[in-house]
Amino acid sequence: SDSAKSDKKEKLVMATNAEFPPFEYYDGDEVVGIDAEFAAAIADKLGMDLKIEDMAFDSIIPAVQSGKADIGAAGMTVTEDRATQVDFSDSYYTGVQVIIVTDDSDITEPDDLKGKKIGVQQGTTGDIYSTDDFGDDNVERFNKGMEAVQALQQGKIDAVIIDNQPAKTFVEENEGLKILETSYVEEDYALAIKKGNDDLVKKVNDAIKELKEDGTFDKIVAKYITD
Ligand code: ARG
Repeated sequence: SDSAKSDKKEKLVMATNAEFPPFEYYDGDEVVGIDAEFAAAIADKLGMDLKIEDMAFDSIIPAVQSGKADIGAAGMTVTEDRATQVDFSDSYYTGVQVIIVTDDSDITEPDDLKGKKIGVQQGTTGDIYSTDDFGDDNVERFNKGMEAVQALQQGKIDAVIIDNQPAKTFVEENEGLKILETSYVEEDYALAIKKGNDDLVKKVNDAIKELKEDGTFDKIVAKYITD
């Protein structure tokens, strides 16, 4: 009946790659993290219910383009190239690409990475930038950032380039590793939305603005990042 139908909220489908703590990761069989809670709060502002679809990082933009997902929320960096494929919301967070090495490494700055084996998560900006700067032959691509970090710990590669927040988590979880103080690249995270869906971009940006202004966003961040 109509009334039963109106009780059921429309779904806002979020594409993500839940291998990226503290933005999205599994707690048991639930995807939690800053993006998961932020997107749920945005959905709520839109009068919708959030549904999370976990997939490879590389699949997020295609999922948004095809309409399989309404938003991509994955600590995703705004790049010129991606902006030709999807529209981006206003930026909601600043990320930094950092370099992880073993405690005894002689690598101390980005220049030292020349000729070294660099591990990255496939399709991320860490992959894109290090391929540009150090050459395809020097970059080893993993499905998950954590797998790159484990390969580093096992001595299979010389460094990992990845976003600062997951870097912190991965280094805490794997002994013998450190994050270099000289960071590599600074970037903006935003939500991906299908090109031309100006209505959703506007609604999402309004929601982001409200959630930033009323302190909700900061509260979510404080729950997951304590330093
Ligand atoms: N910020 C980086 C990028 O956009 C990495 C994002 C990875 N996110 C994830 N959920 N695995 O390429």
